[in-house]
Amino acid sequence: MTLARPIAHLLCALLLAAPALAQDAGGRKLPDHHVKAGVHCFDCHHEEKPTKKAVASDSCMTCHGDYPAMKALTKDVKPNPHDSHLGEIPCTECHRQHQALKVKCLECHEGKFKFNIR
Ligand code: HEC
Ligand code: HEC
Ligand code: HEC
Ligand code: HEC
Repeated sequence: MTLARPIAHLLCALLLAAPALAQDAGGRKLPDHHVKAGVHCFDCHHEEKPTKKAVASDSCMTCHGDYPAMKALTKDVKPNPHDSHLGEIPCTECHRQHQALKVKCLECHEGKFKFNIR
């Protein structure tokens, strides 16, 4: 029992030091926040064995809310990435999950806006 606490602390330290993209159970990379929250393959893919079929925004919205909700969440970000002339494009155009994140806006507005995407 006396050993349990130091080991728990060590594990916590290791978890905190983990990189932004961690390996999930399936050996695929996922952002830390989704690994920690225990989000499963099925939650996003709606398939027992995920294929290349695109992940619908509906999957994300089930847990996070719809575009108006996201717009409210980032209302202080200028410009608001969830309220732009691109309209309600798929969440995964920016919040990719197994690949590096990418803010689509910067494809055209490179260096102009600064975002803190996860
Ligand atoms: C089963 C529920 C679930 C699904 C499905 C899900 N998420 Fe999450 N997501 C969470 C939880 C729980 C967290 C961690 C707590 C939080 O920050 O809201 C999180 C965190 C995040 C964050 C980081 C939030 C922050 O404040 O840093 C982003 C961005 C995100 N999710 C986007 C998405 C996108 C895009 C999708 C669809 C591809 C998605 N999520 C699918 C539950 C889910
Ligand atoms: C055009 C790119 C883009 C799209 C599409 C997009 N997001 Fe985001 N999202 C961002 C950026 C950029 C941020 C970070 C804003 C900042 O704080 O700088 C963000 C932040 C977030 C956050 C964290 C908000 C917080 O608390 O700071 C969540 C959750 C989120 N997005 C969910 C979604 C969901 C769900 C969808 C689809 C309905 C979506 N996003 C579509 C670019 C996008
Ligand atoms: C939070 C949502 C989310 C979770 C959880 C998730 N994926 Fe994905 N997956 C995506 C998105 C979005 C894409 C499209 C490419 C990208 O964003 O990286 C994708 C693409 C894929 C692809 C097709 C492209 C490729 O890389 O071959 C496969 C296969 C896949 N995921 C398998 C899995 C498996 C297996 C799990 C569970 C271990 C999983 N995914 C968990 C969102 C998710
Ligand atoms: C396909 C290219 C493209 C993409 C992607 C794109 N924009 Fe634009 N955007 C433009 C063009 C072209 C204009 C009009 C000319 C200008 O002002 O630069 C514009 C104008 C704007 C303006 C008003 C003018 C300014 O510079 O202040 C804002 C704000 C803006 N975009 C934000 C965004 C945001 C946020 C995203 C991502 C959600 C985004 N744009 C994605 C091409 C794009």
